[in-house]
Amino acid sequence: MTEGLTERAKGRFEEIVGARGVRPGAEAQRYTEDPRDRFTGKAGIVVMPASTEELSEIVRFCNDDGIALIPYGGGTGVVAGQLSLERDDVVILSLERMNRIRDIRADDGVIVVEAGCVLENVHAAAAEHGLQFPLSMASKGSCTIGGNLATNAGGIQVLRHGNARDLCLGIEAVLPSGEILSELSPLRKNNTGFDLRHLLIGSEGTLGIITAATLIVKPIEPEVVTVFAALPGPAEALSLYQGMRRRLGDAVSGIELMSGFGVGLVTGHFNTLRNPLGAPSDWYVLTELAGQEGLQEAVENFFGDEIEAGRIADAVLASSEGQRQALWDLREHTPEANRLSGAICSSDTSVPIAFVERFVAETHAALTKLHPGLRVNSYGHIGDGNIHHNVFPPEGVTKADFIGDTPGIIEAVRMAINEVTVGCDGAISAEHGIGRLKVSDLGRYGQPAKLETIKAIKAAMDPKNILNPGALIG
Ligand code: LAC
Ligand code: ZN
Repeated sequence: MTEGLTERAKGRFEEIVGARGVRPGAEAQRYTEDPRDRFTGKAGIVVMPASTEELSEIVRFCNDDGIALIPYGGGTGVVAGQLSLERDDVVILSLERMNRIRDIRADDGVIVVEAGCVLENVHAAAAEHGLQFPLSMASKGSCTIGGNLATNAGGIQVLRHGNARDLCLGIEAVLPSGEILSELSPLRKNNTGFDLRHLLIGSEGTLGIITAATLIVKPIEPEVVTVFAALPGPAEALSLYQGMRRRLGDAVSGIELMSGFGVGLVTGHFNTLRNPLGAPSDWYVLTELAGQEGLQEAVENFFGDEIEAGRIADAVLASSEGQRQALWDLREHTPEANRLSGAICSSDTSVPIAFVERFVAETHAALTKLHPGLRVNSYGHIGDGNIHHNVFPPEGVTKADFIGDTPGIIEAVRMAINEVTVGCDGAISAEHGIGRLKVSDLGRYGQPAKLETIKAIKAAMDPKNILNPGALIG
C-alpha cells in the first residue's frame, strides 16, 4: 500500500495527537477490513485524537490543506461508510481513544458519553445506576456510539424505544471548518433554530464528526420476558405482534422474525447453540417484553391461548437469564452464520408493516426467477417492517464458484430486492445507511428534491468536501 499523504501532514498529525495517536497506513489493516469481506479499504494514516480539542485541530488542518478524513467508530458498518475504497491519501480518524463516560444524570434521565464508547459499555454504565440505554444490536460489543448516531442505527428494540436518533437529546461535534458545536444539554424542549443534532445524526460523517452525545436512559423494568415461538410465516408473526399489543400494551420491546433455514445455519456453525423447540418449523419469532410485576404471568397466559387457538405451533419462555441469553444468541449469531455460510447478498430495506408479507413473498419469487437454486434466509425486525434477506448460492455450490460462473449475480440480487422494496412503498436503506455501497441506489430511487437539498447542505457545510468524501452523497 502506498501512503498518499505528505510527510508534512503526517508530522503535523503527530504534533497534535502525539506518537501514540498515530498509526502509519502500512499498519492500518484492521481499519481497512469490511465485516462482510466484500471490500478492502485504503488508508494513508490512522489518527486517534484523545480529545475534542485535538480532533478539532486535526479537522482544521485538513480543511486548510484539503485532506480527506474518514471518521471511524467500531468498524462494524456494512455499507462501506468507514472505508476509503479508491483513495489512499486519506486520514482514517478513529475515535477509539475518546471513550469516556462523562456523566450520568438520573434526574434528567441521561448519560453523556464520548463518541468512541462501545455500545455495550454504555449499557453497563447505565445498568450500574439501575438504568438502561435501549439501543441494542448484534454488534453491540464493538460498535460505538459515534457510529450508531452517524448511521442512525436501529436494531432490535426500535419498535418501543426508537432508532439512535430518538434516544439522543444532544450532541457535541466538530464541523468541517474545525469549529466545535457544543449542544449537549439534556433539554427535551429546545426550539432555538434549526436542530443541527438531527442534521448530523444519520449524515454518516459527511457534515461533521460527532464527538460526544447526551443519550436518553430509562429505568430498568422489573420483569423481562423472552419467548421463542414457531409459527407458519410472516403474516402470523405480525398477527402475533398485533395480538400482543392489544393484550399486553406497549410492553413488547422487540419482535424478530427468524427463518428455519437461518436457525439451521446458526446451530450448524455454532455447536454450543441449539434450537430449543423440538419440531422443525419454517419460521420462528423471538420476542421480548418488559414491564411491571405480573408481566410474566400475563405473557404465559397469552401464549397459552395462542397455542390453544392453533395460531402458533409451539413456544418456549426463557426462565432464567442464561436461557434468555441462549435465545438471543441464536438471533445475534445470525449475521456471522450468514457470512460463514457464504452469503452473496445481505439486504437492509424496510416496507410499511402492512406490506411485509407481500415483500417477503415477492422477494422470494423474484429471486427464484433470477436463479432457481438461490437459497434465502429472511429474518429481522418484523415489527419495523425491516426484514433482512441473506441470499446464498444453490446447495453444494461455493460462493466463489457461483459468483465466477454467474457474472453480475450480486448486483442483480441487490436490484431485485430494491425493486420489490420500492414496489412495496419502502426504503432502500432501513438501518445501515447508504455508505459507499448504496450511493447509486440513492441516486436512482431518491427524490430529486431531496437529493438536491442534500447536496446543497453538503456544499454549504463542507465546501472542500473533506468529510467522508464518496460516502452517502457520492
Ligand atoms: C441484523 C443486522 C444485520 O439485524 O442488521 O442482524
Ligand atoms: Zn438488522
